[in-house]
Amino acid sequence: MDTSEAKPAASNPAVAGNSGLEDRFGLHQRYPTIAYLRAAARRRPPAFAFEYMDGGAGEDGGISRNWAALAAVELVPRYGVMTELPPIDTELFGHRYAAPFGVAPMGGPAFVWPGADEYLARASQAANVPYVLGTPGGMTIERACELAGDVCWFQLYRFPRDDHAVGKDMVRRAAAAGTRALVITLDTPVRTTRPREVVAGIRSPFRPDLRMAIDVMLHPGWLVAMMRHGIPRFAMLRPYAGENASLEQVMRFVRQEMRGAFSWEEVARYRDLWKGPLVLKGILHPEDAERAVEVGADAIVVSNHGGRQVEALPAAIDALPAVAARVGGRATVMMDSGIRSGADVARALALGAQATFAGKAFLWGLGALGSRGPAHVIDILVEETRAALGQIGARRPAEARNVVIRHPGALRF
Ligand SMILES: Cc1cc2nc3c(=O)[nH]c(=O)nc-3n(C[C@H](O)[C@H](O)[C@H](O)COP(=O)(O)O)c2cc1C
Repeated sequence: MDTSEAKPAASNPAVAGNSGLEDRFGLHQRYPTIAYLRAAARRRPPAFAFEYMDGGAGEDGGISRNWAALAAVELVPRYGVMTELPPIDTELFGHRYAAPFGVAPMGGPAFVWPGADEYLARASQAANVPYVLGTPGGMTIERACELAGDVCWFQLYRFPRDDHAVGKDMVRRAAAAGTRALVITLDTPVRTTRPREVVAGIRSPFRPDLRMAIDVMLHPGWLVAMMRHGIPRFAMLRPYAGENASLEQVMRFVRQEMRGAFSWEEVARYRDLWKGPLVLKGILHPEDAERAVEVGADAIVVSNHGGRQVEALPAAIDALPAVAARVGGRATVMMDSGIRSGADVARALALGAQATFAGKAFLWGLGALGSRGPAHVIDILVEETRAALGQIGARRPAEARNVVIRHPGALRF
């Protein structure tokens, strides 16, 4: 287990933002919050890329519920204790990270901006925050760990054929590459369609049409990046789809082989196989959190998959307090779905999370700023998290839990 020293956020060039006096590229002036990045991400890449990064299930109801539920959480500050901005370094599984948030696992970020996987991994390493490579990510776990080093985690989806041969091989590779934690995603029992993607022409089998080609031509920055990095091909999955498999062949492989949700019995088998920290992602019910603890998980992520599955699910932040109470310190509790600011991170910490993840916020950063996006998102979240905790009188992340909270949407089970 790693015990290396944290690189403090403030001394890291990737996160020397508002608090540091320099704003070398003027990024803070133009994009002071993640909302500004989202607005720019709508313009800079082709339209289908924005629909991919931004769209949710159904009418985006799950996404707006996550945002509204987070916005409804009020933290009542106490004054007279803080004299300066608090440190926000956070220990997870024996490693001290610079901040209580990381990059959520995502398939296909290279469609948002070619080369995105590498940019996310490098920025995470530079800032010392967790980076999770998704199973359908655009690079191999070997490359991810080379770039992200001691902050590299791996997320696994389910490939049941031949007694989970593919999943087992990926876990073996993840271990050999030095992955810090294995994240098993539980919350995709069904494959759902996101209407905005369908209308934008993102479907499987993938057939780029004339409209897409014109769209790409009208976005030369993206096109140049694509020519530099090549067509994204789901590098982690590619070897299993056949030697030199085309994008279409990999997508067919995913359609046929990646299916269903892990049963608890299957999770238990992966628990035996994987010796490092095991994280179960996608939990919304305290009973499932209980099962996760029983099966030997080291951590859970309370999540509704960022509103990308079925839009009837509750906001993750609303499920968080009951789930955290049930876990009762027996495992690390983390949360994602809807995090767009340091105030959101503080809300999650106050309601029982030890750490959070963001997905779309990083994609908006990539869409707006390409290679510079991920570092700027980290920079914004670091500064805002410190400010939010300082404002409520929390001298470190765990103290956020001491504040008085109004949480109208809190679920009771
Ligand atoms: C484009 C996109 C692709 C995603 N792909 C995966 C994936 O491959 N595996 C996974 O566990 N979660 C995946 N997620 C869900 C994220 O890990 C995370 O739960 C979610 O994005 C958090 O919500 P937020 O986007 O509001 O921050 C994806 C999310 C997005 C936006």
